[in-house]
Amino acid sequence: MSLLIRGGKAFIGGKFVEKDILIENGIISKIGPSLDTKADETLHADNFLVLPGLIDPHVHMREPGATYKEDFYTGGRAAIAGGFTTVMDMPNNPVPTITKERLEEKIGLAKQKSLCDVLFHFGTTDNNFDEIKKADPQSLKIYLGKTTGDLMLHNPASLEMHYKNFPKNRPIVLHCGSSDPDPQENMRKTIGVIKNAASLAKKTKNKIHLAHASTKNDITVAKNYAKCTVEVAPHYLFLSSENVEKLGVFGKVYPPLRPEQKRIMMLSALELVDCIATDHAPHTPEDKENGAAGFPGLETSFGLIFDLCNNGILDKIRLVQLMSENPAKIFGINNKGMIKTGYMGDITIVDPKKEWVVDALEMHSKCKWSPFQGKRLKGKVHTVVKGGNVLYREYEFVN
Ligand code: NCD
Ligand code: ZN
Ligand code: ZN
Repeated sequence: MSLLIRGGKAFIGGKFVEKDILIENGIISKIGPSLDTKADETLHADNFLVLPGLIDPHVHMREPGATYKEDFYTGGRAAIAGGFTTVMDMPNNPVPTITKERLEEKIGLAKQKSLCDVLFHFGTTDNNFDEIKKADPQSLKIYLGKTTGDLMLHNPASLEMHYKNFPKNRPIVLHCGSSDPDPQENMRKTIGVIKNAASLAKKTKNKIHLAHASTKNDITVAKNYAKCTVEVAPHYLFLSSENVEKLGVFGKVYPPLRPEQKRIMMLSALELVDCIATDHAPHTPEDKENGAAGFPGLETSFGLIFDLCNNGILDKIRLVQLMSENPAKIFGINNKGMIKTGYMGDITIVDPKKEWVVDALEMHSKCKWSPFQGKRLKGKVHTVVKGGNVLYREYEFVN
């Protein structure tokens, strides 16, 4: 099987160039201007941008245990429609991913049901050290604050134990948060948690990754430690506590949306950030009414971040680094994150001129609401190729 992608502006070697891409047996085999090759199938990408498949390092696929919110089938389709060929799933299922057996169960389910590739962050408790040794995961997730479900460290000594026991070259993802209802105190305490976790990591020499940074201060404090990488979710760039008046219970998320002036400062902190992560956290309207925290994000992330490019806030080159290249590097995902010979044939083709309006009812996620409902955007994922197979073409699934 071979696929030729012709005529687009492709992101290759750190810049956008007019080059064709040949994928053979799932792998990028040839790149060049006007390739003189025949292929089983040709995609014409004239006037489009051709990007390495996007990678989202923070999603909640909800399977097993909460498949009424999302599962690997619907979540996988949401990912592909959003341009993501690889996602990394979080361990806070109702029965959390804290044993080797549960990790293997998830790997099996994802393999059967998901269109996109799914990798897994392994959960931590105060005492699952043996399971971590057995499972030998590529990354750990540590909750230092309340999340959906009960997964969280309770013993203050556990953090250092996990740091000490985990390989120094693999990232430990940190959920840092506070339950303080006062907005100022909540921000202040969250920064305190980040500061502690980072200074401890400095001592034990671990690689850490800050999940869902919500203020510029979060980022600067975290980046003070050289081996800390940081992700930001689109909602901290587009929404603030002012929006919560209108969103009501649908505006609840961990960490909470911050004051408007903090959101504006966040935009100026984008140059310090390592990657964009959706923190896709789907809940039913009924669960939201009952206090569930989290937003869906897979199908709006690219359009929102591209909107920053349209508005001169972010360079398109940075977008690709933040949404593909850097997450691959941070999490050691080999052969992905770049369009390069020998790399996986995972490609996301976008129409930069396509105007659209966010409508959650059209989305593939089970979550049929969005905090961005009705937002007008320009630039949309048009076609998605994974392992040389066209899965999504002209805004629709092939199968
Ligand atoms: C996430 C969820 O629902 O799983 N919710 C959220 O508000 N971000 C949990 C999390 O990321 O901590
Ligand atoms: Zn979290
Ligand atoms: Zn999350």
